[in-house]
Amino acid sequence: MIFAANFKTNHTRSSTASYLQQLDSFMQFQPEESRCMVFPPLTALDSFGLKRVEVGVQNAYPMQKGSMTGEVGSEQLEEFGVGSIILGHSERRHKLGETQELIAQKYEYFKEREFTIVYCIGEPLEVRKSGDLKEYLGSQLENIDLAYERLIIAYEPVWAIGTGESADRETIAQTHDMLRQMVGSVPLLYGGSVKPDGIQEITGIENVEGVLVGSASLDVKSFEAIISNAQA
Ligand code: PGA
Repeated sequence: MIFAANFKTNHTRSSTASYLQQLDSFMQFQPEESRCMVFPPLTALDSFGLKRVEVGVQNAYPMQKGSMTGEVGSEQLEEFGVGSIILGHSERRHKLGETQELIAQKYEYFKEREFTIVYCIGEPLEVRKSGDLKEYLGSQLENIDLAYERLIIAYEPVWAIGTGESADRETIAQTHDMLRQMVGSVPLLYGGSVKPDGIQEITGIENVEGVLVGSASLDVKSFEAIISNAQA
């Protein structure tokens, strides 16, 4: 199982450091096959010396260094040994207007640098209600190399993100089944209001290989409860 925490615009450098130390100690007692990733804000990056927890970033610009005001390039990530990145998150697609073209450029760039890429896709409510789901999700995979061995795909329905209500079992099962046909053996995560309660129901679904967690990851005890409940 893969457990990924997306802090979004939460936590400071110091609260991130204590969170990670605590989580890393907790992870030492978890099964070897459980993979744990945390995506703090860029300002919190540091060399944490962790054993089990991988630290990644929520975004970066596809350049080593140069002139791109307000962005961070791969040189700044290398300084802290960062090797994972989230791409295609719905907040960046829908709220910040990031295009599939730019996302695909970032994908190519970080693939070349052998980053683990947690690549997010997900439909808004109107598509779920009356659109062509397969075509919509397919368009979010345009120009994305699905054969890349460090790719992880997170299915996050936009209508379930940050709402407190995750998608129901059947919706997740059907969508992940469809995605499995579309993407082959790429590990699939579910994201969208994942909480410690009910986690087993989600991780027990076929073709769900883990979860990407926002709100319920912010408190380290809550994220640890997700990890232990999933494996209970
Ligand atoms: P949420 O966020 O768990 O708060 O719904 C998930 C995400 O956006 O990755």
